[in-house]
Amino acid sequence: MEVHNVNLTISAVAADQYPKTDYPEIALVGRSNVGKSSLTNVLINRRNFAHTSSQPGKTQTLNFYDVEDRLYFVDVPGYGYAKVSKKERERFGQMIEQYLTQREQLCGVIQLVDARHVPTADDVSMYEWLDFYHIPILVVATKCDKVKSNVWNRQESQIRKRLGMAPGAPLILFSATTKHGKDQVWQWIDKQTGM
Ligand code: GTP
Ligand code: MG
Repeated sequence: MEVHNVNLTISAVAADQYPKTDYPEIALVGRSNVGKSSLTNVLINRRNFAHTSSQPGKTQTLNFYDVEDRLYFVDVPGYGYAKVSKKERERFGQMIEQYLTQREQLCGVIQLVDARHVPTADDVSMYEWLDFYHIPILVVATKCDKVKSNVWNRQESQIRKRLGMAPGAPLILFSATTKHGKDQVWQWIDKQTGM
């Protein structure tokens, strides 16, 4: 989809603030600093609409981006960020868990992992958890511009193996720098949201 119109509808910290619309929603999850906000910006053709930062822990609320009055991207705070206090982490955890398990409008989750590395224990737990709740998952291995293309296949197999992905489960190599994979990610979103 060519996106022209985007609004940050709400940065929510509690369920009663979520939009009251019935648009389909796609959430983005992954470790702090993996590139969730950067992926959001590429998908909506903006440079820094969703604020990005080289410091992990930038996104601290559930940010609902209204895309063309048709769907929402929900940018979720990253996990695995040590500097956030234990209390904060529990609060995030509860908010995210509640959103992912109870939100009827949620059509799918894009889980980002770093294309350069084997997924972490947190990544594996998140994937297993989403799968347990039968939430459709697209794995996006991002920052692939930092990996030579002759090892992309090897990285992809390692990620699939470590996450325990079923054969044929969707995974796309992506780069916010080169926009590699953008169209494929949109195809998956269109399918999930019934376009
Ligand atoms: P939190 O909001 O802290 O959870 O982080 P985030 O997952 O939203 O990450 P963000 O998009 O802010 O990106 C983190 C850093 O990685 C920034 O410095 C980005 O410029 C960089 N980055 C993101 N995606 C890519 C990519 O595809 N390639 C390269 N080379 N850098 C990237
Ligand atoms: Mg962010």
